[in-house]
Amino acid sequence: MLEPTETELLNPDAAGMERAVAIWRKGGLVAFPTETVYGLGADACIGAAVARIYQAKGRPSFNPLIVHVADLDTARHYADFSPQAEALARTFWPGPLSLVLPVNKDGGLSDLVTAGLDTVALRIPANALARDLLRAFGGAIAAPSANPSGRISPTRAAHVAEGLGGRIDAIIDGGNCTVGLESTILAPDHTPPALLRPGGLPVEAIEAALGQHLARSEDPETPVSPGQMTSHYAPTARVVLNVATRPQAALWLGFGPDCGGADLNLSPTGDMVEAAANLFGHLHRLDQLAEQRGISEIHVAPIPARGLGLAINDRLKRAAAARPSGGAART
Ligand code: TXA
Ligand code: MG
Repeated sequence: MLEPTETELLNPDAAGMERAVAIWRKGGLVAFPTETVYGLGADACIGAAVARIYQAKGRPSFNPLIVHVADLDTARHYADFSPQAEALARTFWPGPLSLVLPVNKDGGLSDLVTAGLDTVALRIPANALARDLLRAFGGAIAAPSANPSGRISPTRAAHVAEGLGGRIDAIIDGGNCTVGLESTILAPDHTPPALLRPGGLPVEAIEAALGQHLARSEDPETPVSPGQMTSHYAPTARVVLNVATRPQAALWLGFGPDCGGADLNLSPTGDMVEAAANLFGHLHRLDQLAEQRGISEIHVAPIPARGLGLAINDRLKRAAAARPSGGAART
């Protein structure tokens, strides 16, 4: 399951669904149809599974992913719903709307899904096969569009096979996507509620339901979607990159076998998937440790830019970037 070479093509029947769910349970990758686009799904609670999504897509950065669930009760396990969020969910779910909500820290989602943020984007897809799969799985599936990074989003199984064949475990064929455009992303608890990405659900429909206009990304008050932020998770401690030897007065985040004495190691064996899965959690823990010990810097060992290393370095560079307000940037 670690390095798939042959991608199984599954039918949208009981056997195909059972196989898809079994692969998800083992931490594998299955592309599945939603009404918007095909998603590349993995168990959102298994860090290494989520890391493989980025690996398969060749995504050069870790943007937070949308989490898919079967129903509102399951959604409540992973995020906190304000009355306004609840009302929107009841009106537009299942459907092409993702809601960005405060994450429930005890829900078990991998840090890589939220990219270390305090919020998570959730949705219940309307596609019947997607919902049946999610119901059978029972938990949370992280799924970006099932295309190699930078390529066009797939709206049929053949598109997925063209782009990701040989790099993922399976594709379940559910025919054509009816909407063909990614979901609309909304932050309902922002005042006023903010549109973070236009998509398959028209803004007018949301504004009519709310009886007010949405804040748009061109407004200076609107929170920017993390994909566009320079520094969206930055520890309080200063981050210094490419430190190959154990520092004297700083904490050291290691990578690979040559980092004896590191306070934490992203992957002692130099495994990129493991390193990616550990990245945000280790940064959080070192930041806490720095605060407890009165240490002001976290130094990070060099990480080769191969495979997921590109995305890991991208994130680390953002964590090390100058803070917009000069203070801690925990947005
Ligand atoms: O239609 C869709 O939404 C498709 C299908 C497969 O469901 N999925 C999709 O997922 O487009 P993805 O992972 O490519 O969308 C991720 C985007 C991020 O780039 C970011 O802009 C936004 O969702 N996002 C995710 N989590 C967020 C958060 N906590 N706060 C703000 N924006 C978030
Ligand atoms: Mg995409």
